[in-house]
Amino acid sequence: MAALVDVDFTVHERERVALFGPSGSGKTTLLHVLGGLIVPERGEARWRGGLLSGLDAAARGGVRAGGIAFVFQGANLLPTFTAFENVAFAAWASAEGRGGARPLLDPSELLALAGLQAKLDALPAELSGGEAQRVAIARALAQRPALMLCDEPTGHLDSDTGTRVLDLLDALQAEFGFAQVTATHDSDVAARAQRAIGLQDGAITSEEWFP
Ligand SMILES: Nc1ncnc2c1ncn2[C@@H]1O[C@H](COP(=O)(O)OP(=O)(O)OP(=O)(O)O)[C@@H](O)[C@H]1O
Ligand SMILES: [Mg+2]
Repeated sequence: MAALVDVDFTVHERERVALFGPSGSGKTTLLHVLGGLIVPERGEARWRGGLLSGLDAAARGGVRAGGIAFVFQGANLLPTFTAFENVAFAAWASAEGRGGARPLLDPSELLALAGLQAKLDALPAELSGGEAQRVAIARALAQRPALMLCDEPTGHLDSDTGTRVLDLLDALQAEFGFAQVTATHDSDVAARAQRAIGLQDGAITSEEWFP
C-alpha cells in the first residue's frame, strides 16, 4: 500500500501550514518528501523549482543545507554534545554545505532567543523535554532555513510547555521569515496555521484556511 496517494502540495514562501491527520495518515512521510529525506516512488518533489526526486541522498543533503531544517518529535540532540555544541555543530555543517556562508546568529544568541542562555553548557540528559525541544529549534534555526519542517514538535510535551515551544517557533518565523510546515494530530496545533491540510490514508482530504 502506498504511504501517499495523489498528493499535490506546494508550500509558499513564509507560509505557515499544518499537516493534520490521524496516526498513519502520511504526515511524516510527506514531511520527509518535502525535505528530501526520502523520494517518492512515483511523481516528483521539487525545491525552488529544481527536482529533488532525481537526486541521490548526498545531493539531496546538499540541497537541504541550502535552506531546509527539521524539528523532529523528539529533540534528537547529540547526547555527548552540550546545548551550545549541538547548535554550533549544525551551524558549522550548514555553512560547510553552503560553501562557507556565515550563520545568521551565533549559537549563544540563538539559544538566548530560545530562552536558554543559562543552559549553554548543559548536556541533553540535563535538559527537560521542553528545553531540549527549544535547543532543537535553535539548532534548526542555525541552518538559516527558508523552510522549517516540524514533525509533532510538541508531541512529548505538556500543553503549557507545548504552547511556549509553538509560540517560540511562530515568533522566530515572524522575525526570520521562513516557511513552516508542522505535522500534527492535534487540532489546536493545526489551528495555529494559516492553512491546514487534512490527510487521511495518505491522501489530502481537506484544506482549510484560518484568518
Ligand atoms: N519506510 C516506510 N516504508 C513503507 N511504509 C511506511 C514507511 N514509513 C511509514 N510507512 C507507512 O506509511 C503510512 C504513513 O506513515 P506516516 O509515518 O507518514 O504516518 P503519520 O501520519 O506520520 O503517523 P503518526 O501520527 O503515527 O506519526 C503508514 O501506513 C506507515 O505504516
Ligand atoms: Mg508521524
